[in-house]
Amino acid sequence: MIPYQPLDRSVAGKTVFITGAASGMGRATAHLFAREGAKVMATDMNEDGVNTVVEEIREAGFDDIAAFTLDVGDHDAIKAAVAATVERFGALDILINNAGFARLAHPSEDQYEDIWHDSVNVMLTAQQRLIRAALPYLMKTETGGRIVNIASTEGLGATPGNGPYVAAKHGVIGLTRAMATDLGRDGITCNCICPGPILTNINAEIPDEHKTIFAKRRVPIRRYGIPEEVANVTLSCCLPAASYLNGVAIPVDGGLTIKNA
Ligand code: NAI
Repeated sequence: MIPYQPLDRSVAGKTVFITGAASGMGRATAHLFAREGAKVMATDMNEDGVNTVVEEIREAGFDDIAAFTLDVGDHDAIKAAVAATVERFGALDILINNAGFARLAHPSEDQYEDIWHDSVNVMLTAQQRLIRAALPYLMKTETGGRIVNIASTEGLGATPGNGPYVAAKHGVIGLTRAMATDLGRDGITCNCICPGPILTNINAEIPDEHKTIFAKRRVPIRRYGIPEEVANVTLSCCLPAASYLNGVAIPVDGGLTIKNA
């Protein structure tokens, strides 16, 4: 019999680049990777926010972390951030494309055009640009480069009034499949996560009682998720042992997308 082959379940020593790390799921992901011994480049357009997250992670005793102020809508800034990561840590092994925002619009509204442009630029085009900027380094990773794109359950279905976001997130799933197909031969995997309703700043304005009603009606687990529940699935996709997971869209939604009634 072929002997059982234990696979490596640690990201210790790997360098991870995270966008949108000042808040919510990006922040939780930075905390988790730091605790797992990874070197973390935490980036966000919110300079104070990302510096604060880096400080709190250092205070928790994890020093292999740096902050970079990055608006992912800026192509030159993306290249500079990747270069700074490699200069600081000597590698870029794992990319987490997480930055995003929510702006609702009905197709009849004039602002639809601007919201469409910003949504596609920040949540789809930027992911492609980051992947391409990081590619030379992801290719050098001996245990296999890892890319995780954050999509949404809005990439699998649609909520009224959310067209630009829905289109961008459907695009993230397409981008993930395209990259998985193109980069698999280089040992790089590309997967995406489709979070359901997660308690973060993106939905902080929705009153608690509305959240409770929605969750009890739509989510089998009957509550919103917390950012750490998504971060842990993201981490699982980035383990060296996750070497045969490629091109998938994983709902982390408490069962929202499989519930019919
Ligand atoms: P959040 O609002 O807590 O964090 C988003 C972060 O992205 C913020 O720190 C913000 O400054 C940053 N950001 C926004 N635009 C940026 C830009 N142009 N450049 C760099 N950073 C930028 O929100 P959350 O929920 O943690 O969002 C993370 C990702 O998860 C987003 O892509 C979002 O679409 C997605 N998502 C969130 C869900 C939820 O229920 N919270 C559900 C499904 C997907």
